[in-house]
Amino acid sequence: MKFFVDTGDINEIRDLAATGLLDGVTTNPSLIAKAGKPFIPLIEEICSVVTGPVSAEVAATDYETMSKEGAKLAQIAPNVAVKVPLTPAGLKVCKELSDGGTMVNVTLCFSPLQALLAAKAGASFISPFVGRLDDISQDGMQLIADILTIYDNYPDFQTEVLVASVRHPVHLLEAARLGAHVATCPPDVIRKLYHHPLTDKGLAAFVEDWKKTGQSIL
Ligand code: E4P
Repeated sequence: MKFFVDTGDINEIRDLAATGLLDGVTTNPSLIAKAGKPFIPLIEEICSVVTGPVSAEVAATDYETMSKEGAKLAQIAPNVAVKVPLTPAGLKVCKELSDGGTMVNVTLCFSPLQALLAAKAGASFISPFVGRLDDISQDGMQLIADILTIYDNYPDFQTEVLVASVRHPVHLLEAARLGAHVATCPPDVIRKLYHHPLTDKGLAAFVEDWKKTGQSIL
């Protein structure tokens, strides 16, 4: 399973990239607003830190403007995945960019049939938002299962399921059990994955016992 980080914070991205476990980055207009930096230079900087896909989202909602924005974002770096909303205009831009060899991440997916449309439009990634579905008492993870089943039925589809709106480690555990291709997580969720109290306890005991041996490996 690939791990993307869902943030526009370049310091967080640098820090997580240094772990060697970061496969890509997703941003959205809300995350860019939170980062408080000019959009295009920020995406350029992120693309210089991370070799995997970096999602940069269009701002327009009409086809003509979205198409121009998508073409401009695609020029930033070869690893940019242009992010478009799951709307008729967004999928039209998706088809256009995908046909031209640009990666496209189709975002704001909340139903299996929307995901089917995105795959037909040649999306590289479909982003179903599990947390936002859970928030309204719908089963976000069931959506992931349904999309994976549908995509498995049609091996010609190349679209990867990118689990989005991840709120906690159990979302990631469930997504991995289902075999989702990618999950994009806030930085704190990625950091939580390392921790277990028995790891801390066991390590403290090993450190103390090693001291008793009086030895040094180096
Ligand atoms: C996905 O690409 C989105 O940026 C993100 O996962 C949305 O998460 P949220 O529902 O926590 O805002």
